[in-house]
This record gives sequence, C-alpha cells and structure tokens, in this order.
Amino acid sequence: MGLFSKDIQSMDDLFVHTLRDIYYAEKQIVKALPEMIEKAHDPQLKQGFQSHLRETENHVKRLDQVFQRLGEKAQGIDCPAIDGIIEEAEEVAGEVEDETVLDAALIAAAQAVEHYEMARHGALIAWANHLGRRDCATLLQETLEEEKAVDKKLTAVAETKVNRRAA
Ligand SMILES: [Fe+2]
Ligand SMILES: [Fe+2]
Repeated sequence: MGLFSKDIQSMDDLFVHTLRDIYYAEKQIVKALPEMIEKAHDPQLKQGFQSHLRETENHVKRLDQVFQRLGEKAQGIDCPAIDGIIEEAEEVAGEVEDETVLDAALIAAAQAVEHYEMARHGALIAWANHLGRRDCATLLQETLEEEKAVDKKLTAVAETKVNRRAA
C-alpha cells in the first residue's frame, strides 16, 4: 500500500488486495505443513495434514486461475496475520514434550489457520458475487469447502482420540 495515497479505492481493488493476501497465506501454509506432518504423532492426524498439503497446493493453483480470469498478475502481499498464526504454532509446538499434548497443540494451531482461510474465502466469495464474478466465486467456493472439511476432520480427531488421550 502506498504511503501517500490510498491504494484501495473500490470493491474491485479490495477484492484483488484480499486475493493477494490469501495467495500469500496459502503459500506460507504450503511451507509450514511439512513440519506439522513431521511433528504429528497420531497417524490419522499425520495423514490429514498430508492430504491437506496437497489440497493447499491446489488452493494456490485455484487462486492463479482467479487472478488469470481477472486479468491480474498472480502476486502475494505480506499477510502478518497468517505469519503470526504460524509463528505462534511453531513456538507452542516447541514447548511441548508429550506426544499427545503436542498433537492437541498442532490441531488447535491448524484450526486457527483453517478459520483464517475460511474467513478470507467467505469474504472473497461474497465480494466476487457482488462484483458479478460468479466464475471466481465458484472457484473460491471449492477451496472454502475443503477448508471446512479439514476443519471438521481436525475436530473429529481431537474429540475422538487426541483430547481423550491427553486428558
Ligand atoms: Fe487453503
Ligand atoms: Fe487450509
């Protein structure tokens, strides 16, 4: 954003700005997931992270398509929110010794990430529809459904296994 001018003038600008924010975020998540896969102990959790890594790579590709449809360059902008969530996750994970407690911490951290993605995608879908870009909304909706699904899966792993073991 410029120092001397307000760069976001319209809903179109806000839409593209937020696409760049989530583009950066999805790429940071692709980078962060391998460490979470490595740290996870529960096999179902490990596998869940693995499959979501592949999905997340696809989220980046879907955003590439959205940028392409808009005739905008696919480009990220710093997103301090996702950096903060990931940083905190790494810090907390570094403090935990017990395997099951670590799994619980990883699930909570991953859910913070998913909820961020869901919030951003929710807004983007609403704006895409508002701007008459149903094609973009459809693509973003596919990603949102996958974020919601993994969030539910994480809750299930926590409730049926990890939290019980850690209690
Ligand atoms: Fe994602
Ligand atoms: Fe996600």
